[in-house]
Amino acid sequence: MRLVLLGPPGVGKGTQARMVAEALGIPTVGTGDMLRDAFALGTPLGKEADGYMKRGALVPDAVVIGIVEERLRRPDAAGGFLLDGFPRTLEQGTVLDRILAQSGGKVDRAVYFTAPRETIVERLSGRRTCGDCRAAYHVKFDPPLAEGVCGKCGGRLIQRSDDVPATILQRLEVYERQTAPLAAEYRRRGILEEVPAEGAMTGIFEDVMRRLRRTAG
Ligand code: AP5
Repeated sequence: MRLVLLGPPGVGKGTQARMVAEALGIPTVGTGDMLRDAFALGTPLGKEADGYMKRGALVPDAVVIGIVEERLRRPDAAGGFLLDGFPRTLEQGTVLDRILAQSGGKVDRAVYFTAPRETIVERLSGRRTCGDCRAAYHVKFDPPLAEGVCGKCGGRLIQRSDDVPATILQRLEVYERQTAPLAAEYRRRGILEEVPAEGAMTGIFEDVMRRLRRTAG
């Protein structure tokens, strides 16, 4: 299955991406993590992207499309994948269609997570992320067993530089203007599943899987 996750920053896409991709046995392609990895490695692309990310703006399409195209060409993506954070503009959506069409494919399903703004702001403000494996925790909703330490790999937990109040508001504004129109496009195609992302993470995951199985079969 070629699956796209959509939704505002902090709604829980990354959290669900890990669970859903594991359940479906497909790789997650997360553009935010790929860009942060590039920055951590000190590549020119990572350095360029970091400036945009720190101020809550989108990284230019040409940069992001290049890394996604390269990633989707790898053998493990041949049988399907889950895209988290891409496409993020109508232009990226069009390019994705073109890339997939080259091998006779298309986006099969899009899951669109929604939550009230207060929920989103609270989730982003309390998020802590592993600097090594990128796992996300939350100081209130999903705290690590040992403070400041990732329970999955032992890495150090940090607060992302874009999870500060002014940048959170900027990201939400950018999302409404540039990314939200994609949901309407996938709805028009009849492949959109709108999932309320409130409540327990496991409950949301089960809701997603139920919907994917139902309409797939
Ligand atoms: P990216 O990393 O993709 O960030 P985002 O879309 O803003 O999404 P987040 O990672 O902030 O949130 P999420 O929805 O994954 O939530 P999470 O699961 O972590 O992008 C960052 C930047 O990179 C962009 O601003 C842009 O600059 C650039 N970029 C990336 N892709 C791009 C593209 N295609 N084009 C151009 N630029 C691009 O959850 C959040 C918190 O909530 C966590 O603490 C989690 O533990 C908690 N939580 C999750 N679910 C629940 C729940 N059910 N109950 C309680 N807490 C929960």
